[in-house]
Amino acid sequence: MSKTRELAIESYFQKVNFENKLVNFYKGKKILVIGGAGAIGSNLVFMLSELVGAKGTIYVLDNLSTNKLHQAIDFPNLSNVLFAKGDIKNDQDLKRFFREDIDFIFHLAAFFANQNSIDYPESSANTDIIGLIKLLDLSILSKIKKFIYASSGCSIYGSYGKMPLKEDFISMHLTTPYQINKMAGEMYCNFYHHHYGLDVVNCRFFNSFGPGEVPGQYRNVIPNFIYWSMNGIPIPITGSGNETRDFTYVLDLVQGLIKSCFSNETSGKSFNLAAGKETKIIKVKEKIDILLGIRNKVKFKSVRRWDTKKRLLASINLAKKTFGYNPIMSFDEGLSHNIDWFIENREIIDDATDFPPGMSSAIR
Ligand SMILES: NC(=O)c1ccc[n+]([C@@H]2O[C@H](COP(=O)([O-])OP(=O)(O)OC[C@H]3O[C@@H](n4cnc5c(N)ncnc54)[C@H](O)[C@@H]3O)[C@@H](O)[C@H]2O)c1
Repeated sequence: MSKTRELAIESYFQKVNFENKLVNFYKGKKILVIGGAGAIGSNLVFMLSELVGAKGTIYVLDNLSTNKLHQAIDFPNLSNVLFAKGDIKNDQDLKRFFREDIDFIFHLAAFFANQNSIDYPESSANTDIIGLIKLLDLSILSKIKKFIYASSGCSIYGSYGKMPLKEDFISMHLTTPYQINKMAGEMYCNFYHHHYGLDVVNCRFFNSFGPGEVPGQYRNVIPNFIYWSMNGIPIPITGSGNETRDFTYVLDLVQGLIKSCFSNETSGKSFNLAAGKETKIIKVKEKIDILLGIRNKVKFKSVRRWDTKKRLLASINLAKKTFGYNPIMSFDEGLSHNIDWFIENREIIDDATDFPPGMSSAIR
C-alpha cells in the first residue's frame, strides 16, 4: 500500500473518531467485502481491517475486472485480510465464502457504470441483478446479520428530482441500463428484507472520488481529469461545464457504510451518502490545474444522450439523523490527497488505465 494512501486513511481515522460502542461492535467480526479490490471497496477494506483487529477477518471477493491489468491496484496487504479472486455470478466462487460463518456483507461489486452498461447491457444485468440475487439467497441461507448494498443516487433519482434529493423520491425516468439495474437492486434488497427478514441497508452513493480509483474509459470525472491533466491531454467536457455533481470523498462514503451497518435504525431503509454540496464540473478542472501548477485546455463536446442531469445535490439529513453520518473532508483537501496518490503511483496507474483508441467516457 502506498505511503500517501496509508497516511490519508490513518489521518482520516484519527479525525473521524468513531465512538467506543462502534469500535467494540466491530472487534473480532468476520466481514465479506464484495468488490473489495475496487475504488471504494479497497478503502473500506482498510478501515474495516483496523476495526475488526487481529481476531477478526475481512474476506474480499472480487473478479478484478475493473482495470486493464486485471490486478488489485495499491491494495492493502494486511494480516487479517483474505483475498480470493472470484465472480458473484459463479456459485462455486460464492460458496467458498459462505462457508466461513460471516457476520456482515458489504456488496460493492458492480458492472461499472453508465456507458459500460449501454455498451454491454446483458453483462450489466447479469452482474448487477442476477449476481445480486445469488448473494441475497445465500445470505438468507447462511444467516448473514446485515447486508449493505451499494446503491447509486444517480440511478434512483433520475433526471427530474427536486434538489436537494431526498430519500422519499424515486424516479422512473432512468437513462441507462446501469441505473435501471441499480434501482432493481434496491428493490430486490427490499424484497429480501420484507419477505425473508434479511437485515438490509441501501446506501445511495453520489460521485465518489479519492485515492484508489484508476482512470479509464468507463470511470468517473475526477480520476479521468487528473489523468488527462498529468499527461498534457486537453480535457473533454460534455455540456457547458456549469453542470454540477455532489462529489464525495471516498473515506466519507466508507464512514457512512461503517456507521450504517452498526446502527439498529437502518434495517430495510435507504440513505443518501454524499458530501451534500454541489461543485461545477469546470471548477473541478480549474482546481486540478491549480494543484498541478498547469493551465490545461478544455475541449467542449455535446452532451451525451443519456447524461440528462444538469445538477446533482443530495440531502444527507436522514443519514445524519439516523446514524450520525458526518462527512468531514473538504473537496479541496480530498482532491489534493487524490492528486498526491496519482503522483506516487503514476507508473502503475498509467499501466492499468484503459482508454481504447478513439473512445472516452467523457465524449460518448
Ligand atoms: N464510484 C462512484 O461514484 C459510485 C457512485 C454510485 C454508486 N457506486 C456503486 O458503488 C460500488 C463501488 O463502486 P466503485 O467506484 O468502487 O467501483 P469499482 O468498479 O472500482 O469497484 C467494483 C469492484 O467490483 C468488482 N467486480 C465487478 N464485477 C464483479 C463480479 N461479477 N464479481 C466479482 N467482482 C466484481 C470489480 O473488479 C471492482 O473491483 C458499485 O456498486 C457502484 O455501482 C459507485
